[in-house]
Amino acid sequence: MTLHPADGAFENRLRDILPAEAFRETAPGHLEIPRGEFRSGGGLLVTPGTAEETAAVMRSANDAGVPVIPHSGGTGLVGGQVSPDLDRPVILSTARMTAVRSVHPEENAIVVEAGLILQDLHGAAEAVDRLFPLSLAAKGSARVGGVLSTNAGGIGVLRYGNARDLCLGIEAVLPNGDIHHGLTRLRKNNTGYDLRNLLIGAEGTLGFITAAALRLFPRPAAAGAALFAVDGPAAALNVLSTALDRLGPGVAAFELISGVGLDFLSEVGPAVKRPLDPAPEWMALLEVAGGAGFDPDGALTGLFEACAGAGLVSDGVVARSEAQRAELWEIRESLPEANRRIGSIASHDVSLPLSEVPGFISDAAGRIADIGSFRVNCYGHLGDGNLHYNVFPPEGGDRGDHPGAGPRITRVIHDLVAERGGSFSAEHGVGRLKAAELERYGDPAKLAAMRAIKAALDPRGIMNPGAVLRRSDTPEAPR
Ligand code: LAC
Ligand code: ZN
Repeated sequence: MTLHPADGAFENRLRDILPAEAFRETAPGHLEIPRGEFRSGGGLLVTPGTAEETAAVMRSANDAGVPVIPHSGGTGLVGGQVSPDLDRPVILSTARMTAVRSVHPEENAIVVEAGLILQDLHGAAEAVDRLFPLSLAAKGSARVGGVLSTNAGGIGVLRYGNARDLCLGIEAVLPNGDIHHGLTRLRKNNTGYDLRNLLIGAEGTLGFITAAALRLFPRPAAAGAALFAVDGPAAALNVLSTALDRLGPGVAAFELISGVGLDFLSEVGPAVKRPLDPAPEWMALLEVAGGAGFDPDGALTGLFEACAGAGLVSDGVVARSEAQRAELWEIRESLPEANRRIGSIASHDVSLPLSEVPGFISDAAGRIADIGSFRVNCYGHLGDGNLHYNVFPPEGGDRGDHPGAGPRITRVIHDLVAERGGSFSAEHGVGRLKAAELERYGDPAKLAAMRAIKAALDPRGIMNPGAVLRRSDTPEAPR
């Protein structure tokens, strides 16, 4: 299907039907993704204030065959929000839809618009003594619409699930301009195909989410964190299962951190306090939380002693104050920035069945060493089997010294993951960066069904063309 640019005539038609504040200049964040892999030459930025205004944009775009690139917080890492190869698309932003529409603490639910920033959603929940548990390093910029469209994960998935598990209902505009009024707060609602779960994780290829009803939870009365030096990934998994046996849902987060990550922080910052010095080769960062009467300090100290007795941990710190707990999380949340400053040759966001993780990490180290001399920062959300496996030049080197290494490394990593029953995209999505990987590793029946759904809901192919499913007229997605 031929797509057309949002030319002057098209823009004038939109200006006739939308208020002036719906039109803004593009900023760099609309045209480039955080790690710089995708850049766009520009587009017509439209920021509707309501679902009805969004529907008007979509109807016009569908009638004229103008592509629509959805844009929320712009923090996505796989290029779902930036198209390099479209001539002046509409960039459809959630930025003016930031309201909390209603709060229902007695139902543990909240209804918010898609442009609300994740951190503000945390604040809105806290204001009624509730918790919205999804959190990630980009929480100060990421917006609800993008969080849902990418089915974001982050650090709370082990305990609370990912974005999909936290969403009760959505309001969304379909490619033909129909508004799906699905803002239900029901926990049970078996009434046919689940459009909510189709649009969540569709990365804006099937429609545009304008609002969502989300789940809230009681705020834990007491929480604590600890950093343990673990005797390798297998030991870390043993610590995890010991923690779950002892504390059940009291285990709120379980992150793997490698000594390489701490080395990066020392080399390039951001500056953080280092509780374990010298850095152990592997660490586990745990968060525990519970209701009234829960003693995080006792729980973490008891867990450490049990794990030390079993030879799983050699050292550790239990945070003794809120400030110390924040310092431990600061280490974890600074890792993406340290990685960016060092400059990766290849980055991966993989998931594996938990029991496959140690074998994968040791196989991957061997296979990467066969390709060349690199530094690997392997870390992530071990509690839910999600690793960020990022490969860097040796100390003092530059990624420019290793032409062609990135795709070779990625092939090795994704092949190893596939052999062990894992996924080449755990939580960041497919976007444009991994659309070719989806063709390579995706189940053929699923891919055929995905293409059929796309053709049915978006016959003109205007919604985020080239994301998730490659366009038939672009032979090779950039890597
Ligand atoms: C993290 C991001 C990269 O967990 O997903 O650091
Ligand atoms: Zn992550």
